[in-house]
Amino acid sequence: MTHSRIAGTGSYLPEKVLTNFDLEKMMDTSDQWIRERTGIERRHIAASGETTVDLAERAARAALDAAGVRPADVDFIAFGTTTPDMVFPNCGALLQARLGCRGAAAFSVETACSGFMYALSIADKFVRFGDARRALVIGAETLSRITDWGDRSTAVLFADGAGAVVLEAAEAPGILSTHLHADGSYKDLLYCGGGLAAGSDPAKARRVITMTGSEVFKIAVSTLGRAMDEALAANALDRSAVDWLVPHQANLRIIQATARKLDMPMERVITTVQDHGNTSAASVPLALDVGVRDGRIKRGDLLLLEAFGGGVTWGSALIRY
Ligand code: UT7
Repeated sequence: MTHSRIAGTGSYLPEKVLTNFDLEKMMDTSDQWIRERTGIERRHIAASGETTVDLAERAARAALDAAGVRPADVDFIAFGTTTPDMVFPNCGALLQARLGCRGAAAFSVETACSGFMYALSIADKFVRFGDARRALVIGAETLSRITDWGDRSTAVLFADGAGAVVLEAAEAPGILSTHLHADGSYKDLLYCGGGLAAGSDPAKARRVITMTGSEVFKIAVSTLGRAMDEALAANALDRSAVDWLVPHQANLRIIQATARKLDMPMERVITTVQDHGNTSAASVPLALDVGVRDGRIKRGDLLLLEAFGGGVTWGSALIRY
């Protein structure tokens, strides 16, 4: 069995920026409330007609460029999203056609904010077992399309964007471990209705994000703490070995609580929530790309990635970058 490593990262954010002050004009909220409770200051919103795959294509091309990999050499595409362009074909297949990765396996994973972690874990296994040589792993969302703009408790949180990584087979370990989990018993705390079963449950008929935020907050903090311990224990590593925490960007207070559990100063945490809001499956690869491109994350650094989202689902990855 070989290993997989991250050969390159990329990301893309829509041009339009919506600030907290813009939101103040749209609903009964304030910049102060949003910053104090979430850390968010601004977020990007897709243009009319700009789709999840449009964003993903820009991020994927950037990651392929960074990796020096031609689209024709990609043989596996794992695409995490909860806002697909269509019911089918899946976003991975749509992206495959755009890029010209002919014959590559392509599928999407629908685990909300953990979508990228699930996609990464699956792609890592295919590369390690020799069933894929170069994999494109995507997290991309247009959450603005499933945001209830009349619900201030969620409308100020969610946003659009895309992140991508290219994995390739390697001699030395890159991705050291991944762990995935879910607990469907929390399904009513965070969901988006409007699916095919909507007719049988009027409460779930609306295709908008619905969240009991304070409950999700508590579960996220305790779950992510355990997830960090699991990732480190599986590799017999002490928390002091981690160079960078690259967390899901839902709420600065959740990120700070996770960093505290790891005894990590915030200087070693990549935070983009202030500029990106919560981009669900896109948030971790977006944060990773920001950290790589601004020079903080360097080759050889030990990275701890984590995400938590609707389902509930969660996952972690420990990576020697
Ligand atoms: O990514 C997937 C996982 N998602 C998460 O991890 C999100 C987890 N949850 C959170 O981040 C936080 O719970 C929120 C940011 C969503 C909410 O923060 P909170 O501190 O838990 O606030 P709350 O929901 O308990 O609401 C506190 C107050 C309420 O008013 P009352 O009842 O105390 O009078 C809300 O009505 O804040 C009010 N409120 C707002 N006020 C101004 C709720 N939303 C807003 C708003 N602007 N946008």
